[in-house]
Amino acid sequence: MSCCGQNGAKRKEDIHDNVKEYYGKTLKSNEDLKTTACVTPSIKMKKHVTDAMKLIHDDVIMKYYGCGLVVPECLHGMKILDLGSGSGRDCYALAKLVGEDGFVTGIDMTDEQLETANKYIEHHRDVFGFQKSNVKFVRGYIENLKDAGIEDNSIDIIISNCVINLCKDKKSVLQEAFRVLKDGGELYFSDIYADRELTDEIKEHKVLWGECISGALHWKHLYSIAKEIGFEVPRTVSATIVNVTKPELESVVDEDLSDGSDAKFVSVTYRLFKLSTKVEREPKEVLYNGEIIGYEDEIQFDHKLNFVKDTPQTIDGDTAAILLSSRFEDEFEMKKAKCCANPSKNEEIDPFVLASSDKSTNNQGNGGGCCPGSQKCC
Ligand SMILES: C[S@@+](CC[C@H](N)C(=O)[O-])C[C@H]1O[C@@H](n2cnc3c(N)ncnc32)[C@H](O)[C@@H]1O
Repeated sequence: MSCCGQNGAKRKEDIHDNVKEYYGKTLKSNEDLKTTACVTPSIKMKKHVTDAMKLIHDDVIMKYYGCGLVVPECLHGMKILDLGSGSGRDCYALAKLVGEDGFVTGIDMTDEQLETANKYIEHHRDVFGFQKSNVKFVRGYIENLKDAGIEDNSIDIIISNCVINLCKDKKSVLQEAFRVLKDGGELYFSDIYADRELTDEIKEHKVLWGECISGALHWKHLYSIAKEIGFEVPRTVSATIVNVTKPELESVVDEDLSDGSDAKFVSVTYRLFKLSTKVEREPKEVLYNGEIIGYEDEIQFDHKLNFVKDTPQTIDGDTAAILLSSRFEDEFEMKKAKCCANPSKNEEIDPFVLASSDKSTNNQGNGGGCCPGSQKCC
């Protein structure tokens, strides 16, 4: 059963082979999954996202194994890359939402998943009513996007849905994401995190690895890796507890008795921005113009930051830097913050605390985003 060497020192190649087997051969559809990690329910999808999802072919949906909804706002005309695109559900939904002026590339290493995704390119072009398809799928490893032909500073938004946990070398994945993003670009992704460093026994469990549990990063490490690479401090969008309920798997997770408690898991959606080092970081008073389609009244930027149309709000210098130098630039009026204003800063959030609080749901509709056909940022 073990897929690993001594002391949990799994070889990257073994992990790739095991994961390919799991997603290519073992699982036939999401009904075969054994935990709630992949398919954690997403809550409150925005209408135009639901409308786009309704157009996706059933075969693609059946092989969807994501753990969140990775549809950010303001998508029209964007160039998007999906890390670990699987059967292509998110790529197709986003292809609809970016419109014909945008483009979506999915990358995956598993032939069977790519086969399903590629089979329906023409079908989706047709149902979206597009002249030309705006989506493609490439075979490759997300730890090495260069080999897959993805160039430096070429992507506006990267998404990923329940994949980075499956990679041994998570830092390489995030480093590559940083390299290919343009300045002002964003990595918007859902993944599984643990409340601790996992024991070798959990890490070595082949089924739990495939089910996105064994490779879960301790959530605190995401903050240190992101900082080391140069991303802004991660912003938490939503968090949902993941349960390992099958008795034979539960017993493995429960065996982590190092501190007398069982290991716990949570699915979290984060947004990580890449900004130029030269960007200004001054607190600002901002006014949201309500022109992002799907977000006419308000936009929930992360679990606590909500912009209401035409309502002045003071934000800290880091948030102002993000809004000023990303695709959101034209959506906010900004002026110098009043000197007495004391905006709260984005900080480390324990996703387990968030998941058990009132704000635990994917409260912003987790991205609804775009409205096809609009020329405005939508
Ligand atoms: C849990 S599934 C999620 C698929 C898709 N994101 C979705 O939401 O349906 C994980 C996918 O990531 C792919 N994958 C895992 N590790 C990978 C890697 N290192 N490079 C490329 N693809 C990888 C697998 O082949 C599989 O299709």
